[in-house]
Amino acid sequence: MEPDALLLGSTYRTGRQHEIWAWMREHAPVHRHEPGAFPGFWSLTRYDEIKEVLRDADAYSSSSGILLRPLEQGADPGGGRTLALSDPGRHQALRGAVANWFAPRALRRLAESMERTASAIVGECLAAGRIDFVTDVAAKLPVEVVCSFMDIPATDRPDLVGWATAAFCADTPTERSLAHLEILEYFTDLAERRRDEPGEDLVSVLTRVRLDGELLPVEDVVLNCDSLFVGATENVRQTLAAGMLALLEHPAQWELLRADFERFADPAIEEILRWTSTGTHTMRRATRPAELGGRAIAAGDLLVCWLPSANRDGAHFPRPDVFDLTRAPNQHLTLGFGPHYCVGTQLARLEIRAILREFTGRVGRVALDGAPEFLESPVIGGPGRLPLSLSRSTPEPIDP
Ligand code: HEM
Repeated sequence: MEPDALLLGSTYRTGRQHEIWAWMREHAPVHRHEPGAFPGFWSLTRYDEIKEVLRDADAYSSSSGILLRPLEQGADPGGGRTLALSDPGRHQALRGAVANWFAPRALRRLAESMERTASAIVGECLAAGRIDFVTDVAAKLPVEVVCSFMDIPATDRPDLVGWATAAFCADTPTERSLAHLEILEYFTDLAERRRDEPGEDLVSVLTRVRLDGELLPVEDVVLNCDSLFVGATENVRQTLAAGMLALLEHPAQWELLRADFERFADPAIEEILRWTSTGTHTMRRATRPAELGGRAIAAGDLLVCWLPSANRDGAHFPRPDVFDLTRAPNQHLTLGFGPHYCVGTQLARLEIRAILREFTGRVGRVALDGAPEFLESPVIGGPGRLPLSLSRSTPEPIDP
């Protein structure tokens, strides 16, 4: 088995990653990768060691970056500056500034408009009959939602949908970087406007954050907007797409959900999150010497936590390779763990619920209309294209 294959995009296109992780969990759960195109790092593949690292932000720092980057790309520009890439102190201050936006009370107000958006998206798909689920469904709802948090005008949203999709799904690295630059430029302009004329939106909130008495520099506002935007869109899109594919591949589970949506929706969402686990890894840097799984870790070492591997660890999940919508308990690590636990967890669950509810309620027949194509990325997983054909359930339920 070649653990270094985890660094190749082709591994994820062909779906070999789970085979490699299974081998590593058994034979090399804390494995050293020597430097090459990437810096040297340790791979963690078991649930217990991953949880141990994620729970302790003093011993394992996020501020030099949480994603593997080729050495030629240099340091992560958000390092030490964004919410996800900061350590205790700054991290608490930034998290405190945005957390209310994602709290259940704030989200309850949003639920109704989200359901309307989901209904409109699925209505258009039913009218079309043949769709790419990634671009026609999964990419749309999360961008609409985060744009409403940021009070982004409706006329700008199609551009953002296009850039957000291209930033991860375009065919070439150049196209992906250009799309990401467009997003950064857009947020630079927006942050400057909101600093001059603040409103009650999430971008304005960030322009008012003070750390040690000083306002955040515009560049830090932009980096935080970018990371919130990407966090809010990419993972939800990929979870929706990979979740739909999993349901199509497990027709009995799909029928179960259709038969009694309200009963099975909550455990189904958790199992979709565990199974799809689209954020492929997060990374930390040890701040002091440690021992993990019997291996000596030096201060300064990088540790890559392969989250989908933790979620298939048989020591924590009975029958880990079975997709079971009734699984309970289901303490997956898809949304992280510890102080950096995903701030958007409840929002993500609401979005998945809104789309599943529409699909199970209104779509009678849904089938693959061509082969899915998978992203070639060690960072984010799932289909980049998912062609489907669908038809209405008859009679279609009447909206109340
Ligand atoms: C299914 C969808 C999602 C998945 C799989 C996911 C995954 C994750 C994971 C694994 C982390 C922890 C990273 C770490 O420990 O280094 C995280 C953190 C984060 N996520 Fe999500 N996420 C999702 C949805 C969202 C949404 C909807 C938002 C909306 C704003 C969001 C924003 C963030 C932010 C800002 C952080 C950093 C939190 C912190 O460092 O305190 N994510 N996410």
